[in-house]
Amino acid sequence: MKNDKKLRSEEWFGGSDKMGFVHRSWLRNQGYPDDYFRGRPVIGVCNTWSELTPCNGHLRDFAEIVKRGIAEAGGFPLEFPVMSLGETIMRPTTMLFRNLVSMDTEESIRANPLDGVVLLTGCDKTTPSTLMGACSVDLPTIIVPGGPMLNGRYKDGAIGSGSFNWMIKEKQKSGGFTDEDLLEAEICAARSSGHCNTMGTASTMATMVEALGLTLPGISAIPAVDARKKVLAQVSGRRIVEMVREDLKLSKILTRAAFENAIVVNAAVGGSTNLIVHLLAIAGRIGVELKLEDFDRLGSRIPLLVNLMPSGKYLMEDYFYAGGLAVVLKELAELLHGDALTVNGKSIRENSATAECYNHDVIFPLAKPLKTEAGIAVLKGNLAENGAVIKPSAATPRLMKHRGRAVVFESMEDYHERIDNADLDIDETCVIVLKGVGPKGYPGMPEVGNVDLPEKLILKGVKDMVRISDGRMSGTAYGTVVLHISPESAVGGTLSLVQNGDLIELDVENRRLHLDVSPEELAKRKANWKAPEPLAARGYVRLYLDHVEQAEKGADLDILVGNSGSEVARDLH
Ligand code: FES
Repeated sequence: MKNDKKLRSEEWFGGSDKMGFVHRSWLRNQGYPDDYFRGRPVIGVCNTWSELTPCNGHLRDFAEIVKRGIAEAGGFPLEFPVMSLGETIMRPTTMLFRNLVSMDTEESIRANPLDGVVLLTGCDKTTPSTLMGACSVDLPTIIVPGGPMLNGRYKDGAIGSGSFNWMIKEKQKSGGFTDEDLLEAEICAARSSGHCNTMGTASTMATMVEALGLTLPGISAIPAVDARKKVLAQVSGRRIVEMVREDLKLSKILTRAAFENAIVVNAAVGGSTNLIVHLLAIAGRIGVELKLEDFDRLGSRIPLLVNLMPSGKYLMEDYFYAGGLAVVLKELAELLHGDALTVNGKSIRENSATAECYNHDVIFPLAKPLKTEAGIAVLKGNLAENGAVIKPSAATPRLMKHRGRAVVFESMEDYHERIDNADLDIDETCVIVLKGVGPKGYPGMPEVGNVDLPEKLILKGVKDMVRISDGRMSGTAYGTVVLHISPESAVGGTLSLVQNGDLIELDVENRRLHLDVSPEELAKRKANWKAPEPLAARGYVRLYLDHVEQAEKGADLDILVGNSGSEVARDLH
């Protein structure tokens, strides 16, 4: 399908006046032949490469490969950088900056003579942030996920990025794990380019965008260093030029059906709880109605098919060899909207119809799943009036119904100061309550919800306890961890009123999170509650604090929700 619409870039390059001269002439200093300015679709290659984002360190090379494909198909590639978000390095948390990168991406696309966009992504937030920005402009857009690292091997077993981190304290406290062991594990865990090799948030995001139909089929699981990743990067470059000619915009692919598919797929692959806030924010930008309850309604009864850490035992490289996402899509066919369109112009059903599984211990059939129910459960109750979430597949089954005494930490600093005190009044039946780590509270809703257990309980052999907070959890983490409690404590949610010794009931089956304190007592506590001082007086963080929404709305800024299209009101004069 070809459309006769005038290219957007012609507004810049098509004129024979002074401004046409200005727009073309300066770009010519990079050595582009004249025909580049005469009717070629201009494709922006939005690069999240940075040496400070180790997971995206190879994307500089990938941009060249994508650009080769664009030029081959008759397009004019122009690469541009946006702020990059490196999960393991940035403080206080990359989530604080997700919305900033979305603004950077949105304005960079709209302000420039682009007809289509390729997003080069990898580390966790680099995918949702750039996609959110692209949605608010709504040009033809394709995503090239950078791919996972090769499997880590440590001594006689696999070492999964991120998932190993959560065992370090336990290993060190239990003895026998030396500084040399730590160094060796450190080196073994990250042995190639790419993002985390578990089904953590980066793999979840790559899976999500493929399930949404925004990548070429099969790309998300391919390791970063595999030559086939480069092939699909080049073909993605070719394809975006055709998408411009077909006017295949994001809004034609990102329908309600696509979002529902992404929720179902996330459950089946054991994806991260972080998908919730990102998918809600993306839906808000493109104008699709999506609610927190949809994740439970559509996803919580979906079986777990993929045996990957943190819910299972394998890593992304094994998953790729087993057949990758296409196998999962084929298995889930009866539960998906098979007609949903993807960037290659075919439906998700067509793209996965011939998939074959090569290892049934990595990808299980729907008829005989790894677990009968995965997905995300959405909890409600007086402790989470607007909702909270838990990932049952990563939790301890016997703790899914639990009543315990609250041990409260008012902040992360308070937690670090007291958690390992020998005289802390805590046992394995208690509920660890962490306040002040929500969107406004930290600020930025960090991944701290799965806080380590107290040292004295680890030494007793305790492996899991119920932990509740208004924060998030790394996609590589596990445990009976209730997250995203809304309203958060920093805005006076019931969480802010919990005191040591209160009884808390968690009942995942009945989707309930309850604080066993009378309404009268809660009203008294609320009357004495004081809002914390704003954590920033100026700059982006102040803007964020003034506008960030709660978790059940995706933690976007209220002023960013929606779409301003690709029109620019005024020319450069
Ligand atoms: Fe970058 Fe996990 S730290 S993907």
